[in-house]
Amino acid sequence: MEKFNAIVIKEQEEELEYGVEQIDDSELSGGEVFINVAYSSLNYKDMLAVQKNGGVIRKYPMIPGIDLSGTVVESADPRFQEGQEVVVTGFEMGMSHTGGFAEFARVPADWVVPLPEKLSLRDAMVFGTAGFTAALSVMALEKNGMKPENDPEILVTGSTGGVGSVALQILSKNGYQKITALVRKDHQVEVAKSLGATNVIFPDNLGDVKKPLNREKYDFALDTVGGDVASAIIRQLSYGGSMSTCGMAGGIQLTATVLPFILRGINLLGIDSVNVPIEKRPEIWKNIANDWNISATALVNEISLDDVPAVIDAIKNGKHLGRTIVKCRIGP
Ligand SMILES: NC(=O)c1ccc[n+]([C@@H]2O[C@H](COP(=O)([O-])OP(=O)(O)OC[C@H]3O[C@@H](n4cnc5c(N)ncnc54)[C@H](OP(=O)(O)O)[C@@H]3O)[C@@H](O)[C@H]2O)c1
Repeated sequence: MEKFNAIVIKEQEEELEYGVEQIDDSELSGGEVFINVAYSSLNYKDMLAVQKNGGVIRKYPMIPGIDLSGTVVESADPRFQEGQEVVVTGFEMGMSHTGGFAEFARVPADWVVPLPEKLSLRDAMVFGTAGFTAALSVMALEKNGMKPENDPEILVTGSTGGVGSVALQILSKNGYQKITALVRKDHQVEVAKSLGATNVIFPDNLGDVKKPLNREKYDFALDTVGGDVASAIIRQLSYGGSMSTCGMAGGIQLTATVLPFILRGINLLGIDSVNVPIEKRPEIWKNIANDWNISATALVNEISLDDVPAVIDAIKNGKHLGRTIVKCRIGP
């Protein structure tokens, strides 16, 4: 097989170095399914992956990219056939197993989900890991009582980021009408409204973390930020309310007392997208492809492998909006 393009991260003494290189398939990690990658996507974790001590990559050199959609070229597992369209997110991809920022990838069959009907390879990565996580968060909140007919007050944080922007759109598409978006910058107000927010607030409006309880304001919260933001929300959840927590863009520390839990019966719902069991994934992707499919109106930017470093810098500098997908396959 001829050489092909991939982004490769290499470890130098002081820092990591990365860029597009020509590699051959012997440089890919092992697995039963060999895939021609159509699209990958950029996620917050990819930004961490290119930082020295970012805590994502476990060995070098490494091809980053924690998700992909593509077409099976060859499979040693009878569940997958040549020509089949598939999607892969999470597990060890882009961490200890070569990932999606390449024209080809090889992965274990146990990580692979058949692309659901009604979802194109491109749309699958408009969702990607961030959108899959947004879907998991909404599912967790709905399992804990959130329903459109109750007209709940919902708060979404990091609302113009990858997870938050998809979450806003899913909530709005599903008939929720009181969706507050937390943003940090003036220009994000209109963006959040265009994605379905009915109200927009800034961190200053969130209230402080001095008292263990503040006035009950939100029935449900979908948090991607963590830190002080999540700590403030815990104090404002209504009786019986729930907050899903998937991220740490604003810090890993939570400041809380048990009071909101034991006096208001609130729930904190942890969300992990990386190790969701493979048998549960087709159902989640089916939701995404059908009732929750917001790919036609998503805030999305398409780039090539060469453009990845610039967008990673934008994520690092808080200048990134919505989703960025990476077209890896050369040609249609
Ligand atoms: N648990 C999982 O499986 C899973 C899966 C996917 C993502 N995540 C995590 O979820 C988080 C969000 O991911 P993403 O892809 O949506 O990232 P993203 O696209 O970079 O968006 C991050 C968002 O958080 C906001 N933000 C950052 N720091 C903040 C702060 N101190 N206060 C308020 N808002 C702040 C940003 O606002 P600005 O635009 O103003 O900077 C942006 O809207 C990350 O921590 C990521 O690691 C977890």
